[in-house]
Amino acid sequence: MQKIKPLVSKRDILCAETAAGPNSLVVFGASGDLTQRKLLVNVFKLFSQDLLDKRFYVLGCGRKRLSDEDFRGRAEQSIRDNSNFLSPDDLDAFTSRLYYLDGDYNDPDFYRRIKTKLAELDEKHNVYESLVLYLSVPPFLYATIVENLGSAGLACPNEIGSERQIRLVVEKPFGKDLQSAVELNNCISHCFDESQIYRIDHYLGKETVQNILMLRFANTIFEPIWNRNYIDHVQITIAETVGIEHRAGYYDSAGALRDMFQNHMLQMLTLVAMEAPISFEADYVRDEKVKLLRSIRSLDGEKLNDFWVAGQYGPGRINGKEVKGYLEETGVRPDSRTETFAAAKLFIDNWRWQDVPFYLRTGKRLAAKDTEIAITFKDVPYSMFASVGLDELPPNILVLQIQPKEGISLSFQAKRPGSKICMSTLDMNFSYEGVFSAEMPEAYQRLLLDCMVGDQTLFTRQDDVEVSWRLLAPILQAWEQDKSEPCKYVAGGESFAEADRLIEADGRKWRKLLKPEISP
Ligand code: BG6
Repeated sequence: MQKIKPLVSKRDILCAETAAGPNSLVVFGASGDLTQRKLLVNVFKLFSQDLLDKRFYVLGCGRKRLSDEDFRGRAEQSIRDNSNFLSPDDLDAFTSRLYYLDGDYNDPDFYRRIKTKLAELDEKHNVYESLVLYLSVPPFLYATIVENLGSAGLACPNEIGSERQIRLVVEKPFGKDLQSAVELNNCISHCFDESQIYRIDHYLGKETVQNILMLRFANTIFEPIWNRNYIDHVQITIAETVGIEHRAGYYDSAGALRDMFQNHMLQMLTLVAMEAPISFEADYVRDEKVKLLRSIRSLDGEKLNDFWVAGQYGPGRINGKEVKGYLEETGVRPDSRTETFAAAKLFIDNWRWQDVPFYLRTGKRLAAKDTEIAITFKDVPYSMFASVGLDELPPNILVLQIQPKEGISLSFQAKRPGSKICMSTLDMNFSYEGVFSAEMPEAYQRLLLDCMVGDQTLFTRQDDVEVSWRLLAPILQAWEQDKSEPCKYVAGGESFAEADRLIEADGRKWRKLLKPEISP
């Protein structure tokens, strides 16, 4: 039975949190970086907030030979490194529930051993209700693991206990194009029903991304103006200062379109532009998201250069430090054309959004870390201040700042004290940090709890993934066939000429990345 945990703070009077029932978590790729840095740390946070049942346990599976003690030691270290609220009792109680099994993912015997181990641990911890299988492995292993889980009887609930809920969590990237995503979906659906599959896009777990739906649909003042009558255009930006870190092996065959566009960028777009679902329940929300994705105008047959641009960073300076260009990064092919920046202009063909451009851009090694959605409203229809020289008034802009300083700001024109006609743009700011003193929960904390509770709202459904890939297909195809050099931009720069042209051709400008922070 799931229990609803009431929250304590007065500010949170409209809160409800569902604690997970008795659960076991099997992580494939348990010795890897993601498991150590993100998964176990966030599972620990849930545990220490009493959101997990005390019978909970984790079985880590991986290729590396580790004992239970090694696995526990590593987990403890990363929890100590990455968690602020640490109680030694909680830490001991948590790590004593961690177990490890090594084996070869291609060997069916590994899965038989997992099954036997689970039976032993279920009995020891008295957990029979729910099992979460988490794929934290490189994508080429997804199909192998899923097929083996199916053959071992670890996918279908009836084979390991009729009451048991089994859920499969799949990390991104989900495929590398439409065809591979369809193949992967087909493979998984042989063993798991869609209701068991949790495709992760960690952006959906971010507090400020979740807030988009609350802001839009828990207030009356935004919806009447949230349309083509009032909105001039929307800019969605994910700018990063980091390069590809140690991930050349993956990134060089992915690039910004696959790594960020198909998932995080399009997911943010759907939340900003979708219609109101009839209820905040998984399939109602996901139906609306898919409907919106389907109404994005296809770029098939369009003159693509007018709608998208790619770039690759060259050497430069970030925060006063010299950084290498993409082609000099370890593990990158010396003649690689992989894009580290991508921008696109999209239109949504429906009554709400007809003719409103959505400009999306994302890039690595840019001037600042900045994730935001900026909604620029139309100019005033007529300026009564024109007679005194104020004929061009800046538009109102509503900014949903997702990172690094989460908040919302609305800019408007106001009179300045002093001379009779003196006006300037003011920002009305709300910052999460200033209002909520508690540490912002990490995206993985939200998503891990949701998959243990069985709430799929913040996970992408099969049709969502496939429509997103279909939308990108013309660009991916054209980019793969194109043999020309990608545009180069200087690491640490705000933008570059070709990216600017995409938006300036419409008489608009990208928002600046380096701007004053929203003050708490
Ligand atoms: C990941 C991408 O999904 O998101 C990375 O694979 C990227 O390349 C990261 O750096 C950005 O996430 P965040 O939460 O730091 O904005």
